[in-house]
Amino acid sequence: MNQKIKEVVNTEDTKLSGNKIIELRNNNEQYFIMNGKRKSYHILTYGCQMNEHDSEKIGGMLTSIGYEETDDEKNADLVIFNTCLIRENAELRVFGKLGEVKGLKRNRPDMVVAVCGCMMQKEEIRQKLLKSFSFVDIIFGTNTIQELPGLIYDVEVNSKKSVDIIDNTELIYENMPKIRKFKYKALVNITYGCNNFCTYCVVPYVRGREKSRLPQEIINEVKKLAEDGCKEITLLGQNVNSYGSNLDDKCTFSDLLYELNKVDGIERIRFMTSHPKDLTDDLIKAIKECDKVCNHVHLPVQAGSNEVLKRMNRHYTREHYLNIVEKLKKEVPNIAITTDIIVGFPGETEEDFLETIDMVKEVQYDSAFTFLYSVREGTKAAEMEDQVPDEIKHERFEKLLNVLYPIVLERNRSCIGNTYPVLVESVSKTSENYLTGRTEHFRLVHFKGSEDLIGEIVNVKITSVKTFHMEGKLQQK
Ligand code: SAH
Ligand code: SF4
Ligand code: F3S
Repeated sequence: MNQKIKEVVNTEDTKLSGNKIIELRNNNEQYFIMNGKRKSYHILTYGCQMNEHDSEKIGGMLTSIGYEETDDEKNADLVIFNTCLIRENAELRVFGKLGEVKGLKRNRPDMVVAVCGCMMQKEEIRQKLLKSFSFVDIIFGTNTIQELPGLIYDVEVNSKKSVDIIDNTELIYENMPKIRKFKYKALVNITYGCNNFCTYCVVPYVRGREKSRLPQEIINEVKKLAEDGCKEITLLGQNVNSYGSNLDDKCTFSDLLYELNKVDGIERIRFMTSHPKDLTDDLIKAIKECDKVCNHVHLPVQAGSNEVLKRMNRHYTREHYLNIVEKLKKEVPNIAITTDIIVGFPGETEEDFLETIDMVKEVQYDSAFTFLYSVREGTKAAEMEDQVPDEIKHERFEKLLNVLYPIVLERNRSCIGNTYPVLVESVSKTSENYLTGRTEHFRLVHFKGSEDLIGEIVNVKITSVKTFHMEGKLQQK
């Protein structure tokens, strides 16, 4: 079966009828004439790059009906929470912030509050919100972003609280309008959802089954981005390596990389995330052969013990993982390997944990995201016996960082004296005269330079390093 597609080229293509869209736009235009400013929206985005990109689509939908973005959350006409529930603390942060906004709404009852994203895909959480956070006006899900104009219409014109959730869908909405956060780098979805059901993870429950976009849709989007001046794309999927598995016309992830490598104007191609069980020799070859594909693979290992990996349902062994790492290092000299690690998965013994430590030493990661295992209701791991006590989790976490950080620092040290192309991203947060950018290996570099270099790829010679960033000197071309 080939991918079912629905085009959303403008807001008329949503459930809301053309007449009502016109009415909504007219109202917003009227507001603009009366107030000399447009209605404003502010989006609070939690979670991963999928959510970040969804927020760009939400911004696109809102702009198409006459809203404009504001940084001023307190005075925004519409505040949207794009939520995440990957770990408990992500969820708690959202509830905490919702509590704050409740106070704002009391002072400004006209303010519209909407909540969307992964948390809203869970019935129990929606119920909690409807009951305990009754000031929320709009609830929508990860599959109903395109319906936002209709939901706003219900609140503003019909004075009605509105909820629109679709649990699972085979449809992919193409060509949604987007307000991209950056001009020079862009996030591009290649797959949606996940079929892997790692036993700790909520994503397959909230994002539905895996669907791949048609290659031509992706290529067209990337060509358009390049025309608009974009230099770096990041291809997004929960498991990019299984891209294409539901498409009629065979196209693997490596086939896609070769195609995208041909797009003029694009200078760097990144991807997130690679599942070790599906990382093929073909992909290693593509990374090696495609000059624009960055020599960096984010390859979440999660744990070093085969026993734990099995209970996590990861479908690979530590030997298989190490074998891939060896091949990557052999075939792609200077490749950077980064990872995700979970500490304190149910039943993890001290020996299991030491195997994770061992893995970190053996791979010599360039960087890693480390997490304390967090119980997620509805997942298999939440039902497992032998949950690891919090204090042991914290102890192990600490031990892990004590091994990991010196390795990361050492890997950074190996860059001192070398010159790297750096894509300049912004003015440094700490000093006005400094710029911040990333090497192809995803290392953060601070160096002196002027603002007009933002969006350019420049050469920087590394002079000193810390664990989380490096410092360097701009080189003349
Ligand atoms: N699809 C990606 C990961 C998405 S979630 C992959 O498979 O690699 C990002 C990371 O969050 C995961 O890699 C995992 O390390 C972590 N994570 C997911 N669920 C978690 C949980 N219940 N507790 C702690 N960490 C979790
Ligand atoms: Fe979650 Fe596993 Fe899917 Fe990643 S591959 S999103 S960790 S279920
Ligand atoms: Fe991402 Fe969080 Fe959803 S990590 S897919 S936003 S649960």
